[in-house]
Amino acid sequence: MKAKLDQIREQALAQIANSDTMEKLSEVRVAVLGKKGELTSVLKSMKDVPPEERPQVGQWVNETRQEIEKKLEEARTKMERALREARLKAEVIDVTLPAKKAELGHRHPNTIALEEIERIFVGMGYEVVEGPEVETDYYNFEALNIPADHPAKDEQDTFYVTGDILLRTQTSGTQVHEMEKGKLPIRMIAPGRVFRADEVDATHSPSFHQIEGLVIDKHITFADLKGTLAQFAKELFGEETRVKFRPHHFPFTEPSAEMDVSCFKCGGKGCRFCKGSGWIEILGCGMVHPKVLKMSGIDPDQYTGFAFGLGLERIALLKYEIDDMRLLYENDVRFLKQF
Ligand code: DAH
Repeated sequence: MKAKLDQIREQALAQIANSDTMEKLSEVRVAVLGKKGELTSVLKSMKDVPPEERPQVGQWVNETRQEIEKKLEEARTKMERALREARLKAEVIDVTLPAKKAELGHRHPNTIALEEIERIFVGMGYEVVEGPEVETDYYNFEALNIPADHPAKDEQDTFYVTGDILLRTQTSGTQVHEMEKGKLPIRMIAPGRVFRADEVDATHSPSFHQIEGLVIDKHITFADLKGTLAQFAKELFGEETRVKFRPHHFPFTEPSAEMDVSCFKCGGKGCRFCKGSGWIEILGCGMVHPKVLKMSGIDPDQYTGFAFGLGLERIALLKYEIDDMRLLYENDVRFLKQF
């Protein structure tokens, strides 16, 4: 019996010494000390040992068991320490390495121009409002006196969602939303994204931004429109800026006009920038059509108003002398950083 126990111990100690993973160690434990382990089966065979020898054999079994357990525990502790050291070594951080540079973003030229325009109008007492980008035909066209057969409603220009629902082609629908609220007077600008089925090129994009303006009160005249927009142009492009209104047509205003500003590059003499004319077109405007007022519940005999609309990208391109609109949509930080 003693010889058998010695053999089990020697074999177990050799296996422990040869174990190089936790898994192997636990295999040894199971094979020797487990329920069906070698030492356990010796214990089970105690009943065959003559009773007078049992205390002695029992002591041998216990000693063998204790020794194997001790060695197992030692091997486990050693292995854990080695694993921890290896992990710490792998996780070492070299604090002397140069830090990675965090790239800061930059405000977009559109945002800079928009904030400037908002600042000017807010300074004149205007409120900044927003309207929905997904609109119904009514708000985008009908309530703005744009008839059913108007070419702007053509599917080639307008992105339709379903029959009556579309992506707004202009921010002018926001005028209607504001007028319908029934609170007068109104002095608002409404910046926002608009959509048109245009191919991308240097001056077009299927999605761009407009800023709508609307003033409604008693006794508002074309003189108010001219004075306001002339002041706006001076603040945006410089004190020496002059403005010129050319007759135009928009269904929702009567009379309608386009406003040009004197070229801020050459002062009006004519240069490459203004294509030699000395003038640059920047917005559409007019007196709100009485039919438009009436459709939104405002009495055109009591109230009048003016409206205007301008393209934000156009202003940003002009102001920062960028000659390709596509640059505005690439968001290359090296480009954006220049403004
Ligand atoms: N909605 C027009 C466009 O997209 C711009 C415009 C012109 C808006 C005249 C106005 C306006 O409010 O009075 O071309």
